[in-house]
Amino acid sequence: MAAQSKLDNIGACVFDAYGTLFDVHSAAAKCRDDLGDKADALSALWRQKQLEYTWLRSLMPAHADFWQVTGDALDYAMAATGLEGSALREKLMALYLALDAYAEVPDVLATLRAAGMKTAILSNGSPMMLDAAVVSAGIKDLFDAVLSIEDVGIFKVSPKTYQLAVDRFALAPGQICFMSSNAWDAAGAANFGFQVAWVNRFGQPRERLPGEPKAEITSLEPLPGLVGA
Ligand code: LAC
Repeated sequence: MAAQSKLDNIGACVFDAYGTLFDVHSAAAKCRDDLGDKADALSALWRQKQLEYTWLRSLMPAHADFWQVTGDALDYAMAATGLEGSALREKLMALYLALDAYAEVPDVLATLRAAGMKTAILSNGSPMMLDAAVVSAGIKDLFDAVLSIEDVGIFKVSPKTYQLAVDRFALAPGQICFMSSNAWDAAGAANFGFQVAWVNRFGQPRERLPGEPKAEITSLEPLPGLVGA
């Protein structure tokens, strides 16, 4: 993989939300007083189960929106780590609607837009969740579109989800630059035909899956340079 190869002929930059723009572990981090030394285990398992449930529900198929999936995953993670209480559950779910955006996100989006680049979110998140997240982070006005897979009723990595961005911008898949920190999402999007920059925030090995990202970056900061914005 060429770490910094330029992405050419890009008409829109499309971002995954959770883990890419928003720090999913910031919810549990703000509850450390309640969670004690279980905070990190709870947060990791919550995220892992949330993603597994999206894949499993898409295979069954038995779709439920990402808010329900996120709550179901939290219930599992609390049970598995020996945590209890509806007040704690409600607190964590409320915090999930107000996750921290990664520090570089507002500047990167502003730079892209100043250069005339279209920007969008394409996420598993429900419209309610995504609206709450962008409003809370103060970045709502920096997107041309916030696309939710609820419009197709199946989760990533179904090609139907990535097609939402193609349809919204009337661009060919190869003219869309897609960013995700989730390596499996980066693979799915590359396999669909997007030019993908994998935001490898966590120093993970690449997935052994079809679909090769064109670039690998460790934060979104180099993105404007990569797409010539
Ligand atoms: C999303 C998940 C994959 O935002 O993080 O779609």
